[in-house]
Amino acid sequence: MTAAAITFENVELSLGGERIYDGVDFHVADREFVCLLGPSGCGKSTSLRIIGDLLAPEGGRVEVNGKPPAESWPEIAFVFQSPRLAPWRNVLANVLLGVELRFGKGEARARTEKARALLQLVGLSTSGAKYPLMLSGGERQRVAIARALAVDPSIVLMDEPFSALDPNTRRRMRAEIERIWQETRKTILFVTHDIEEALVLADRIVLMSNKPTKVLDTIAVTAPRPRSLADPELVRLRDRLDALFRTLEPEETT
Ligand SMILES: Nc1ncnc2c1ncn2[C@@H]1O[C@H](COP(=O)(O)OP(=O)(O)O)[C@@H](O)[C@H]1O
Ligand SMILES: [Mg+2]
Repeated sequence: MTAAAITFENVELSLGGERIYDGVDFHVADREFVCLLGPSGCGKSTSLRIIGDLLAPEGGRVEVNGKPPAESWPEIAFVFQSPRLAPWRNVLANVLLGVELRFGKGEARARTEKARALLQLVGLSTSGAKYPLMLSGGERQRVAIARALAVDPSIVLMDEPFSALDPNTRRRMRAEIERIWQETRKTILFVTHDIEEALVLADRIVLMSNKPTKVLDTIAVTAPRPRSLADPELVRLRDRLDALFRTLEPEETT
């Protein structure tokens, strides 16, 4: 059996008097790419916060690399919807910012060459001296990915990292993150509310319900990579997920 990188077992949670989780169960295997898919407000970001030890659940069991989140947070890095770069630091210094905050300035200096290699990995080898304002949205997100990898995590938690990008950039970034995942052999837990994104990227899709949230289904995607949305397996799964999603997303009121 593959070791579990993340165990999320029967997790219970209320926030501000509202019941958010009604026993949420999923796991992520070592080096697996798992997408958490669910309607807005169901608690996808919240689960990343619990895994990253930013929030404690009320019940259930959460383990990261076999340890409680309080002991395993150094093995985790985040990528958020907005890149959260420091505008006064150049790209290279932004990549090293996470290392500096976690391990100090000396360690950041020692990892400069590694940071340059990561910039190459994300396709920004000639941009190290640029400032965030000089970059496109997609390039900024590449910097955020390099910054996450610079702390040498075993697990990368990604919270709708491409949802603010235009559709073409978004498609390109999907292909990029797949390549980066394959080259670095990290475990990725990737939050999205986009069915196509989950289908293209995930080894398994964990589908969450509306609140109080449970896991409705876990769907393995076996189509060969890089995937095409025209792949018959993806077409079939998209129909199934579309149907499930229609029962979840609240109707838009006009
Ligand atoms: N600090 C908080 N206090 C009260 N409610 C919160 C807090 N943080 C999140 N929530 C609620 O928890 C639910 C899940 O939030 P979130 O994880 O951000 O959802 P998602 O990422 O799936 O859109 C939402 O209904 C939100 O309103
Ligand atoms: Mg969210």
